[in-house]
Amino acid sequence: MTKDQIDRISSRFPSRWFRNYLRSKLKSDPLYDAVYDELKGSNLPLLDIGCGLGVLAFYLREQGLTFPIRGLDYDKRKTDQATHVAQELNDDDCTFAEHDAREGIPEHLGNVTILDILQFFTPEELDHLVTTASDRVAPGGKLVIRSGLKDNSTRFKITVAGDLLAKATFWMKDAPTHYPTAEDFERILSPHGKVTISPLWGPTPFNNHLIVLEKQAAP
Ligand SMILES: C[S@@+](CC[C@H](N)C(=O)[O-])C[C@H]1O[C@@H](n2cnc3c(N)ncnc32)[C@H](O)[C@@H]1O
Repeated sequence: MTKDQIDRISSRFPSRWFRNYLRSKLKSDPLYDAVYDELKGSNLPLLDIGCGLGVLAFYLREQGLTFPIRGLDYDKRKTDQATHVAQELNDDDCTFAEHDAREGIPEHLGNVTILDILQFFTPEELDHLVTTASDRVAPGGKLVIRSGLKDNSTRFKITVAGDLLAKATFWMKDAPTHYPTAEDFERILSPHGKVTISPLWGPTPFNNHLIVLEKQAAP
């Protein structure tokens, strides 16, 4: 992503704090590029669970992807900011709503993303959310997840510390409750299609991995 693109996306946010946060996030985190690579060949609508400020949606638009995007997050401060930006862009196909994913997810058939939110879910809630999200993936579509994985690495310890700091500074509403392992994702997702798990931390110190479920296209 070029500096101009980063400036264009971040400058649309009314809050100066959010603008600065986004500039540094977009410069340092390989997340959005990786998700773009997974979704760029698809025309299916996208459901983004735990969308935050809608950065993924605006990034995908900046990269020329035009499919409908619906973002859900239980933090209204963030969905309000995202809605403001979508309205500025006159983008009716990009919508955001306040919603707690622990209460289930709406009907949808397409691609689904769950990025950096699973640390807030108990094991049972995580199992349920990831299974339901898999059911919402269309034939030929993908569920793309990023999550810190629990293991013995120093990266994992730094991941937990980072999430605790995010809560202490009120950036996140909740403290982390549980971290899944790679085996958890294999167990939950493999009955639904092909699963790949790969490191996705770039220059960051966190133990983040990209987990992709790919459903076979209809014959
Ligand atoms: C680290 S941020 C990631 C934001 C976005 N996915 C991204 O990658 O740009 C985690 C987001 O998950 C949201 N979140 C946490 N628990 C949630 C829940 N139960 N339902 C909906 N959103 C939730 C938080 O409000 C926050 O915006």
